[in-house]
Formats: sequence, C-alpha cells, structure tokens
Amino acid sequence: MRPAARFAPETIWSAPGRVNLIGEHTDYNDGFVLPFALDLRVRVAAARRADGRVVASSAQAPGEDGEALVAALDPAAAARGWLAYPFGVVWALRALGPVCGVDLVVDGVVPAGSGLSSSAALECAVACAVAELSRLALSPVEIALACRRAENDYVGVPSGAMDQLAAMCCTAGHALFLDTRTLAMEQVPLDPAAAGCVLLVIDTGHPHSLTSSSYADRRRSCEEAAKRLGVRALRDVTEPELGAALAALGDEVLAGCARHVVTENARVLEAVHLLSAGRLRELGPLLHASHASLRDDLEVSAPLLDLAAETAEDAGCLGARMVGGGFGGSVLVLADAAAEAVIREAVTAAFARRGFEAPAVVEVVPSDAARREDVAELAPRG
Ligand code: GLA
Repeated sequence: MRPAARFAPETIWSAPGRVNLIGEHTDYNDGFVLPFALDLRVRVAAARRADGRVVASSAQAPGEDGEALVAALDPAAAARGWLAYPFGVVWALRALGPVCGVDLVVDGVVPAGSGLSSSAALECAVACAVAELSRLALSPVEIALACRRAENDYVGVPSGAMDQLAAMCCTAGHALFLDTRTLAMEQVPLDPAAAGCVLLVIDTGHPHSLTSSSYADRRRSCEEAAKRLGVRALRDVTEPELGAALAALGDEVLAGCARHVVTENARVLEAVHLLSAGRLRELGPLLHASHASLRDDLEVSAPLLDLAAETAEDAGCLGARMVGGGFGGSVLVLADAAAEAVIREAVTAAFARRGFEAPAVVEVVPSDAARREDVAELAPRG
C-alpha cells in the first residue's frame, strides 16, 4: 500500500470498479441492470482508534488528509472533496450500530471520472473495513445500501444503487442481473475469452461528474414522467404500453426519458436471455441500440463518447456503448479478439485527427466483488 501507513493495519479491504454491460439510467427507475466488477480495485487499510475519530488519507489525494469525530459527522456540514466518501460511509454505518474510531489509508487504481464507479469502490472498501473493525455484522446488500445512503444523503449525489451493489455482489466470470426494485439477483455467466471475444473500455479522458446537475435533471424528468403516467416508476410501463404512454406525456423530454427506460429494460432482459444461452457475440446490436437511446432519447452522451463508440463500430466491433452516468467517461466495446488491434488503432487515430489525446483503452475481465485482503502480505506490521 502507498503511502506507507502511519499505523499498523488491522485489516485491509478492496472493492472493484464496475462496468455496466447494459441497463443504463434504469436503476433509479426501479429497473433492470447487468453490471460486472472490474479487475481495477480500491484498497483501504484500516485500524481502530481509541479516540473516536475517523482519520483518512489517500495516495490519490496527497495533502488532502482529514479527520473528524465519528459522533459529530453530519450531512448538514459534510466534508468536501474525496473525504466526503469515507466520512459519508462512516456516517451511514452509524445508523446500523456503534462505529469505532478508525485510521484509514486508501490506495486505488480505479480511474476517477471515467464512469467506472471509483466512488462506489471507495465507499464499499471503507464500509467493509469499518464494519469489520466496529464488529457490525452486515450482509453485502446491507453494506451496499449504506454506501448508497452515504452517496445520496451525505455526498449529495442522487444515484441509484447499482454501483454499490455491483461492488458488493458481483462474482468473477459473471455479470450481475439485478432487479433494482426487489433486489433479486442472478449471476449470469460472462466469459468473453470462451466466446473468442474481448471487452474493452475506452476512457475518453473527458471526465464525467455525477455532482454536475445533469444527472439529477434526468432523474427528476424520469420521476415527473412516471408521476404524469400514474405509475410508481417508469419500470412499470411495459413495451406494449409505450406508444400510448408517449402520446399521453406529450412532452418531448419526458417522452424521451420514458422511451429510453422502457426500451433499455427490455434490452437488459434480452441480454440476459442471450448470455444465459451462451450467445455473447449476439449482444452487439443491443449495445448499439442502448448507446443510440442514451444519446438520442435520454440525451446523456457526449461528443467524445459518440466518437469512440462510432469509431469502434466502423472498425468492426460487435457492439459499443457509453457506460455509467454519461456526459463524459468511458465506452464499453464488445469485439472479436482478432479485431482488437484494429479497433485500438482506429480509436487512437480518430481522436488524434480531432486534436484529442489518445484515450486509454484497457481490456476488462469480469471480476470479484469486495474482499478482505491478506494484511500480512500487503502491509507488514512495522
Ligand atoms: C451512475 C449512478 C448509477 C446509475 C448510472 C447510470 O453510475 O451512480 O446509480 O444511475 O449512473 O446507469
């Protein structure tokens, strides 16, 4: 771990970033999602403190260390910057039982602002470590929901629960089919190599930020559309009902929201069906349609996301779509393994032609959820 912990860690936890295969902007509409965990993880080394304080530092935020009394944490006077995440988690866990003082040292390799959910990875790794040290017996779902509460009520981002549930519940070699209303889950096999494919993430370098107002705007519009249609959430509109619902809404923005959510939920169900039948390669058109819907109906894409997705399509991938909250961040590409080099070159060249820096392109492999790491190996007591 870097930086060297100034305390002897009692425990180390790590949690992964995630990519959502399909089912974007559906989680806050009670809909379906299909994320998988990345092999990019945030690690947190932690030890109890006797003075009831939480003291946190991060290798990714040098000079931004912070501390607070656990009992005094309050969303009305929330910490700013990265500290809002660990402090928010400690605040949220307090509602579930007594929380001890803790030292926390964070080191992570999930790029921030890439739409890969570095914030949920940080939240979940912190929550697991603090829950263990405080002897709170919490299930992975309880931890995920506490982290979502931290993000919603302490950090102030009105996100759904997909990212935290992915960080806590995914398993290697699978995508997590999650019904965000009932929290019913199913592990769906996702093995690109066995299908002769690769999954690539293109980080456009144009950061997305959920704290910008656009994500909250979309959420409000979806809620308004559901209200006008007299349903609890847009998830309750079925595909056959969509035409009548759009006519009833009569407002272009609200109709776009409804069309995106209803069609995206249907695409998730179709994707689960294909994956369960071992037909990963046939997911391409669903990814393509998802991107078009996010771009044209929900209007959460961005020029560089469109450029990356379109270039990958032109270079012969099976399907490509923006992932995460949108307005920047990353694109997921499903491609035949033999096409990987051509796609990488095409995307780099397309960005260069328009004067943009080469985007980072990484192959991603469906990985495990949060886990306890071996303290002896990672941070020997000094
Ligand atoms: C962000 C949010 C999630 C979800 C996605 C869009 O990642 O944190 O809850 O809404 O955007 O699918």
